[in-house]
Amino acid sequence: MKKKKGKLIPVRIYGDKILRKRAEPVRKIDDELEQFIADLTLTMYEKDGVGLAAPQIGKSVRIFVVDPFWFNEEAKKDPRVLINPELIALEGEAEAEEGCLSLPDVFGSVKRVEKIIIRGMNEKGEKVEYKTGGLFARVLQHEYDHLDGILFVDHISKLKKISILRKLKKLESTTSENGVNIG
Ligand code: NI
Repeated sequence: MKKKKGKLIPVRIYGDKILRKRAEPVRKIDDELEQFIADLTLTMYEKDGVGLAAPQIGKSVRIFVVDPFWFNEEAKKDPRVLINPELIALEGEAEAEEGCLSLPDVFGSVKRVEKIIIRGMNEKGEKVEYKTGGLFARVLQHEYDHLDGILFVDHISKLKKISILRKLKKLESTTSENGVNIG
């Protein structure tokens, strides 16, 4: 099968209701879905992201793409697509700064599980499994959260969030009812 060429899709911004919905499982991988995955992947790279979940470009299905190291010098692009992922928390705790393409200019320190196993399907419908830690595990957990309508700021305590609440309110107020970012 010929690989599809992706196109850039606008990223949904905080305040858009689709970011808070639980996404639906994928039932079959057809032509339309292959095109969507190509769009998701291209949009992640164009926006300088290391991960992007389907709801962030307006489709509430359980798919995301990650490539945590592509911007490192000498690293090649190596997108990993996960469809209908299952996440198993293994052990440890790690805290690090996160951001999100749906929350421009918002950053915060988030505690996550250090080591995980994640299973799912790739874009060809083949079973894949990653047992990993560090940044890769963090990005996978962040993207997995998007499929359940969870954003990284939800993991930050109210006290620590005071400084970013104003930014969140502003993002929300510039996102129109139908979900297109107008700010
Ligand atoms: Ni995100």
